[in-house]
Amino acid sequence: MKINTSFLLFATVLVVLIGTLSFEVCDGALYGKALKLKFYEKTCPEAQQIIKTVVEDNAGFDAFLGALLLRMHYHDCFVRGCDGSILLDPTSKTEQVELQAEPNLSLLGFDVIDEIKTQVEAACPQTVSCADIVALAARDAISAPFGRQMWKVPLGRRDGRVSRASDAIANLPSASSNFSALLQLFVHKGLNLIDLVALSGAHTVGVAHCGTISRRLFNFTGKGDTDPSIDPTYAESVKAHCSVNSKNIVEMDPKSSFSFDNHYYKNLIQKRGLFESDASLVTNPFSAKLVNQFQNADAFFAQFAKSMKKMGAMDVLTGNQGEIRKNCHLRN
Ligand code: HEM
Ligand SMILES: *[C@@H]1O[C@H](CO)[C@@H](O)[C@H](O)[C@H]1NC(C)=O
Ligand SMILES: *[C@@H]1O[C@H](CO)[C@@H](O)[C@H](O)[C@H]1NC(C)=O
Ligand SMILES: *[C@@H]1O[C@H](CO)[C@@H](O)[C@H](O)[C@H]1NC(C)=O
Repeated sequence: MKINTSFLLFATVLVVLIGTLSFEVCDGALYGKALKLKFYEKTCPEAQQIIKTVVEDNAGFDAFLGALLLRMHYHDCFVRGCDGSILLDPTSKTEQVELQAEPNLSLLGFDVIDEIKTQVEAACPQTVSCADIVALAARDAISAPFGRQMWKVPLGRRDGRVSRASDAIANLPSASSNFSALLQLFVHKGLNLIDLVALSGAHTVGVAHCGTISRRLFNFTGKGDTDPSIDPTYAESVKAHCSVNSKNIVEMDPKSSFSFDNHYYKNLIQKRGLFESDASLVTNPFSAKLVNQFQNADAFFAQFAKSMKKMGAMDVLTGNQGEIRKNCHLRN
């Protein structure tokens, strides 16, 4: 059995290393080609400025809108690629679209996307995809307080025509996922361990519903207990806010949840990750090492930028695939 365990560890190390290496090497080739930074330069030169202006008018100078749009973009990309499918409304009583599988993606973010789309359509009809709008709006909302672009967004995504709740359920990790489940899902998407740790840092902004963590707080093993891996002081403070069956929301990164920073990683090493998925990032030696590296904010920002670029290019539709929706809520 001893051999088995060390062999497994060895195999995991190999898989992680090979995965990491090959993605570093392929980065340009795989993800750089289809999308282009200046994709709309000739066809809709004003698009990016319109998006930035609408976002900044709505964002103010904290990450509230940024949290909504960043999560929207992430969910869009993980389910059938970044194709705007998260925005589609159901068109019949029986159709169950991605959005209906979401635990409450806020409506406010959708309003901002609609406002952008209306203005962009007025400037250049049926030219800029909803998928690109979401990608740019998320970047611009997070970037607003910094006064500089926090990551680059290559463009040219096309909008998909399929949106299924079942795809969302199958492709999105859950707050109670353990480390191996998370890594498996990310690797399945062409992302690696580094991307998993860096992108989870998005949980430095925004809020969660108490229901998401009620089992972890109140009935972890079915005996009315709390997950023993949470710092007890933190657990008490979250419980005080999230009583059993509470419909409250709780900050993901207490006192800093509207600021995009590396505070998330400072919480993790203090056992103050909100979800089991967050806490799991210190349970694996490789990922724990990255959590330590991201105690440095510049190291986190630099890797987050790279990983966002990769996530934003996942399984995208380009060229003649898909369509450019006239209205982000409806197929043409
Ligand atoms: C690693 C696996 C991940 C899991 C298990 C996960 C799970 C969740 C859950 C359960 C919530 C709270 C939902 C609620 O109760 O309302 C949430 C919120 C959020 N997630 Fe994640 N997530 C993951 C990765 C990501 C990634 C990769 C991003 C973006 C790059 C992201 C961005 C966000 C943001 C910004 C919020 C706050 C949204 C708001 O304030 O409305 N998450 N996540
Ligand atoms: C939140 O989720 C509930 C139950 O899934 C749903 O009825 C409600 O419409 C959602 N609210 C928003 C703002 O999406
Ligand atoms: C992680 O979660 C998966 C899926 O829920 C489960 O099959 C697996 O046994 C878990 N692994 C560990 C190490 O707990
Ligand atoms: C706690 O979990 C157990 C086992 O899953 C379940 O039988 C029990 O009803 C739960 N208690 C509460 C208060 O939800």
